[in-house]
Amino acid sequence: MVGMSPKKAYEVTRMATYVSQIAKNLRVVDGFYIVDVGAGQGHLARELLDVVTGVKGVLALDGDTVLVKRQASVQHPKPRIGVEHATDETDAADATSVTHKFGHITSPERLVEAVDEWFTEMETGHTLRSNIPKPVMLVSLHGCGSLSLDVLRAFVEKRFRLEDIQRGRRRWGFIASVTVPCCYNLLREGEYPVSAPLSPSKTKPEIEMAKAALHFTIIPSTTALLAVRKVVWRALLECLFVHKGIKLDDMDASGRLGRFPPRAYDTWTTFLNFAGSRLGSSPESINTTLSPTLVPLARALSILYVLRCMLGPLVEAALLEDRVRWVRERLASNDMRLTYNTLLVPLFSQLGEVGSARNIAVVVIPEYIE
Ligand SMILES: C[S@@+](CC[C@H](N)C(=O)[O-])C[C@H]1O[C@@H](n2cnc3c(N)ncnc32)[C@H](O)[C@@H]1O
Repeated sequence: MVGMSPKKAYEVTRMATYVSQIAKNLRVVDGFYIVDVGAGQGHLARELLDVVTGVKGVLALDGDTVLVKRQASVQHPKPRIGVEHATDETDAADATSVTHKFGHITSPERLVEAVDEWFTEMETGHTLRSNIPKPVMLVSLHGCGSLSLDVLRAFVEKRFRLEDIQRGRRRWGFIASVTVPCCYNLLREGEYPVSAPLSPSKTKPEIEMAKAALHFTIIPSTTALLAVRKVVWRALLECLFVHKGIKLDDMDASGRLGRFPPRAYDTWTTFLNFAGSRLGSSPESINTTLSPTLVPLARALSILYVLRCMLGPLVEAALLEDRVRWVRERLASNDMRLTYNTLLVPLFSQLGEVGSARNIAVVVIPEYIE
């Protein structure tokens, strides 16, 4: 759990344990592979390789070149001794590491291409010898915006799933998928709703959602007061700059501020000190006391932000329900021998992040798994 915040370590452990339980019940003859989409620093990918029985290789895909290069060059310790990874000697060599690859995923096809490339490399490198079609589990932890939807799009395409692959030329196919979506504000235009309206007589969705509603879903993960201060004080700071005509080298001030530790928000003066040091200007040049004219604005902003936090879970719930309905519709229309269960699983604790959909996984697993 090196280099992870306690929150991230908890999420990674929980998700890997959950995937491990699914894996134990998969009806596969010779192990399986995992693709972690939007893998970031590869924390989950490494944990999966470490704890999931029967996994023969993990592909960590990410669209950030710098991150991928860095991870690919870092030597991570080998998985724990005693954990079973490969069940077949012929494929044992590919089981010892996570493969980091660049992949900016904007469609199911792009994802499938990246997985194809990985399997071709394993075949060329003679780490993959048996001819049995390889089952692949898709996972994604906090895949931003449309990314987690593209993962599901790849899964619901009949031609990419294991049961269809077995009759075709591709040597691998998807068998299950566990995605925890986030950052709905980054969804592409037109991605809500994706499911059909509940009533056939309706041509419009039951709930219409303005693009702006997606911004409600950025829900604070810290205490309420701190969360409100973070947003409101930053907004006030920008206001002060405008009022005072302060120019910041034509650079975006909020971008340059970066993240502050919670203690920066203890008082307005401490906050200005932190801001001043980041922006290279003295706090005095801004203002050390909150001008009375800004107090009503601060209050209005706080109320607006709290309302936004209250509406966030509703918007997220609508998005998740829509996604699950859509997956079920698509899988039902596939007319396949194997049927699937599509579930919303509250994977991470709801304490501290009440109702946040960042804690809920969209899980698609073969129906034979309890
Ligand atoms: C919120 S981070 C989560 C990282 C990691 N899964 C974790 O939980 O620590 C989202 C990651 O997805 C990657 N990402 C976002 N959009 C992507 C895309 N279209 N294709 C591939 N990666 C993407 C980002 O580079 C980032 O590393």
